[in-house]
Order: sequence, then C-alpha cells, then structure tokens
Amino acid sequence: MASLLSIVAMVDKRLANELFLDVAAHLANRVDPKAEYYLDWAKKEWNWFKGSGMINAEHLINDGLENVTCKNNGGTVWSYNQGVVLGGLTELSRSTQDKSYIKVAKRIADAAIGNLTDSNGILHDVCEPDCGADGSQFKGVFARNLRILHQASPEARYATLLENNANSIWANDRAKRDRLSLIWSGPFIRPANASTQSSAMDALVAALATS
Ligand SMILES: *[C@@H]1O[C@H](CO)[C@@H](O)[C@H](O)[C@H]1NC(C)=O
Ligand SMILES: *[C@@H]1O[C@H](CO)[C@@H](O)[C@H](O)[C@H]1NC(C)=O
Ligand SMILES: *[C@@H]1O[C@H](CO)[C@@H](O)[C@H](O)[C@H]1NC(C)=O
Repeated sequence: MASLLSIVAMVDKRLANELFLDVAAHLANRVDPKAEYYLDWAKKEWNWFKGSGMINAEHLINDGLENVTCKNNGGTVWSYNQGVVLGGLTELSRSTQDKSYIKVAKRIADAAIGNLTDSNGILHDVCEPDCGADGSQFKGVFARNLRILHQASPEARYATLLENNANSIWANDRAKRDRLSLIWSGPFIRPANASTQSSAMDALVAALATS
C-alpha cells in the first residue's frame, strides 16, 4: 500500500489524490472492523495533499504540479478539483470529530465560489462552451460536494448558491422534455446528453436537499 500512494501521486496528481482521500475517509466512517486503517490512509493522503503545493495562496486548487520541480503548475482552476476535496474533508472531520477540516473545506469552497461564479452567482468552468466529454460533468461534482459540506456544517451562502444555480438551470438552461445542458446561466446549447443532464441534476438535487 505504501507504493500505492506514491503511484497515485505520480499518475494523476490532483484528482486521483482527492478521490483517494474521499474514498478512504468515507470507508473510515462505514467499514467498522478497518476504520482505523482507512482513517490512517485518509490522514496520510490529506497531509501529502496539503503539503504538495497544489493548493495555492488563494486557497484554490490548481490543475497539478510541475513534472520535475513538483511545484504548483499554475494550471486551470476547475470546479471538480475544488469539489471532491470538500466531501473528503467533511468525511475526515466526521471520523475524527476535528472541526479544523471543515474550516479548511470552507476556505476552499469560498475561494472556489469567488473564482468560478459570475455576477449572478452562477457556476462556470473556463472551458465553456467546449468542455469535451468529461468537462461537462465538472460543476455537478462541485455542487454535490458543496451539499455534503453544507449538510455537515450549514452556511446560508452555500444554500443560496445551490438554489440560485438550480433556479438558473431550470429557467435558462432547459429545453423541451426537460433536457438540461452545459451552461447553467444559459443559453441552452446542444448537445444535451447524459453528462450535461446528470451534472445539472446534481445541482437540482443539492438545492432540493439544502432548501
Ligand atoms: C509532464 O509530463 C506529462 C506526462 O508525462 C507530459 O504530458 C507533459 O508534456 C510534461 N510537461 C512538461 C512541461 O514537460
Ligand atoms: C481564478 O484563479 C486563477 C488562479 O489563481 C486565476 O488565474 C484566475 O484569474 C481567477 N479567475 C477569476 C475569475 O477570479
Ligand atoms: C455531451 O455534451 C457536452 C456539452 O455540450 C459535450 O462537450 C460532450 O462531448 C458530450 N458528450 C458526448 C459523449 O457526446
């Protein structure tokens, strides 16, 4: 297992590490006989991640590290990279009863909201309107994980953000037969597909769950 962490670190420095944290912290709260084991991995992963330099001085997570120097590569701030870590830290706080993880999660969430929303508070990724096969999922990942953070430690501003995004999707980003598309502020653009639909649904479900 020691080598697993370093393989994860090398192959995909940011999202795989966040997912590793998220899975380990979830397991620590759910798999009784091995809770300590998973918690230990979740803590190791978070310690590595926070020391890695991927979180910049503005509390935003850039898209990786430079190959040789391992310094923050200044890469694009994507919504999903700011999202998964919120769920991981919330679970870590649950299993340790340590609120400092929630504090860090809120710093990242607030920085992300400042960086990724327009003047109406609607989320965007910089790839719009051409986000490719996976980019069309990103904002849903953020909304889903912001909901997890909010439910553990509510903040009116998070509920408002989710509600505004859901309302905007419904009013501006919907076509006949309730198809939902990529740009949550609108306009509806083609194609709307399983990726755009499920991502937008994540925002609707998160808003319903927090209202
Ligand atoms: C860093 O490594 C990746 C993966 O091997 C490669 O795609 C990329 O071009 C490299 N970047 C630089 C700046 O060398
Ligand atoms: C978001 O953060 C990145 C990285 O710090 C920065 O380059 C970009 O200008 C920011 N965008 C906005 C809209 O604040
Ligand atoms: C789904 O739609 C998005 C956004 O318009 C597009 O970028 C993506 O390539 C589409 N995915 C597939 C599998 O066609």
